[in-house]
Amino acid sequence: MGGAVGGAVGGAVSLPWLMRELQGNILRAYGERYRVVRHLVLTVDDAAAARLALGLMVDGDRSTPDVTSAERPPREAGYRWCLNVGFTFAGLAAVGVPASSLDTFPPEFTKGMVARAARLGDVGDSAPGRWVGGLADTQRVHLVVTVHGWTRADVDQICEEVMAAARGRAFSPISDDVFDGEVLYDPVTGRRIVHFGYADGISQPRFLGVHDPSAAPDQLPLAPVGVVLLGYPSAIPSVNWNVPQPDVLGRNGTFNAFRVLGQDVAGFDDFLARVEGDHGVDRELTAAKLCGRWRSGVPLSLAPTAAEAEAFHEDRHLNEFDYVDGDPDGVVCPIGAHIRRTNPRGAHIVQRSSNRSRALIRRGIPYGPRWDPDDAATRDAPRGLLGNFFCASLAAQFEAMQYDWVNLGFQDPRITGTNDPMIGANDPATSTFSWPRQGTEPLVLRGFKRFVVTRGGAYTFLPSLPALRWIAGQTG
Ligand code: HEM
Repeated sequence: MGGAVGGAVGGAVSLPWLMRELQGNILRAYGERYRVVRHLVLTVDDAAAARLALGLMVDGDRSTPDVTSAERPPREAGYRWCLNVGFTFAGLAAVGVPASSLDTFPPEFTKGMVARAARLGDVGDSAPGRWVGGLADTQRVHLVVTVHGWTRADVDQICEEVMAAARGRAFSPISDDVFDGEVLYDPVTGRRIVHFGYADGISQPRFLGVHDPSAAPDQLPLAPVGVVLLGYPSAIPSVNWNVPQPDVLGRNGTFNAFRVLGQDVAGFDDFLARVEGDHGVDRELTAAKLCGRWRSGVPLSLAPTAAEAEAFHEDRHLNEFDYVDGDPDGVVCPIGAHIRRTNPRGAHIVQRSSNRSRALIRRGIPYGPRWDPDDAATRDAPRGLLGNFFCASLAAQFEAMQYDWVNLGFQDPRITGTNDPMIGANDPATSTFSWPRQGTEPLVLRGFKRFVVTRGGAYTFLPSLPALRWIAGQTG
């Protein structure tokens, strides 16, 4: 169907059918109206009660909120909230999924995020021993229930109803810590931002048969749904990820790396100021070089100077560019910049076939108050990003991106051995960021700290709605 919306998505599967099967927020975001989020991190207290609660959450009696399917356009239907359920490996076991099924899940998921800490750069201050909210307690972290809502009151109400399901006997929070986030806006421009002040939610894979390619032109081809859903061809020719068994459990499920990422905004701003002092470079230009986009979201590749970024017409497309032609050496967008590392687009990289195969879906909402150096009451408050990274293979997509590309720079020998300057596991003793310049030596920035610290996380599996029914029907 060549990208036509509503056509066949993969094989004989039609889009309307698929959307009825899937949890929401995976192929399409819920949208900005749902600006408040809470992630409930739960432990199962009673397997039978938990299955009863989960059953009510798929075929509800209306006393229990329903898991949101991808079919329901929640905003159009006037729903003030959306609900997702993810299981850790221990969680699948805790609700009674039999060992014969558990054995069919991939090893990085069965081991869990804590066991993969070194690979993910979760060391030192980011090590699981320092995590908040009990997230390092692998045996007790069973479910991550995510509620998005229009307002905090909506989210509070739905969370209460979830906890009351099956007479409140099913599960309980693993700690008193809450994972609450809220969309952040730039007070001047009104733009949706992350804590370092960059515009958010710009570049995402768009899917063949799901998205209209003309709506937001991108030089990258539409991705197959197998990038995030199990049971379809992946983005790597001839490679299909194993579907956990039985088929009803695995098919149309997705894996999620849930990450609680603390951000040191003061440290980031100090660094921009230091570069300005040492090298006479405007802070906004440094910020753009570290990310690959100006804080307005305009890509360096389309607007190499501040004046061009300023003049960039808002109707122009923010994803219609590539690095392969015109900027092979990173003179415009450094090879080590955050968005070029995490998506080299068509650029030549060591793992040639991997350019697009590591693509994943990012759904994140900031937590903590906006950083304002003049507000003593909130200046030192915890802040960061509650990130969900959805993919069909945690090892081949999330981990490969986080490990090989963000923290090792394996994709290009010119950045190998360096970390992502914005989010990588940097250490002032060793950190470097090379900023190539036309006709002169690169500017090499050194001695910067780690600006993003892992505060916790979990690998979860988000089953399809039929899979949730299957889980609810287990008797173990
Ligand atoms: C607090 C942590 C993080 C911050 C502040 C951050 C910030 C950003 C910003 C500002 C953008 C550009 C805007 C956009 O495309 O939406 C971006 C893009 C992106 N980020 Fe991050 N990010 C963070 C963590 C991560 C992590 C952990 C990963 C994956 C391991 C990641 C992967 C990506 C990818 C794939 C893109 C899109 C690149 C493209 O297609 O051009 N980010 N991020």
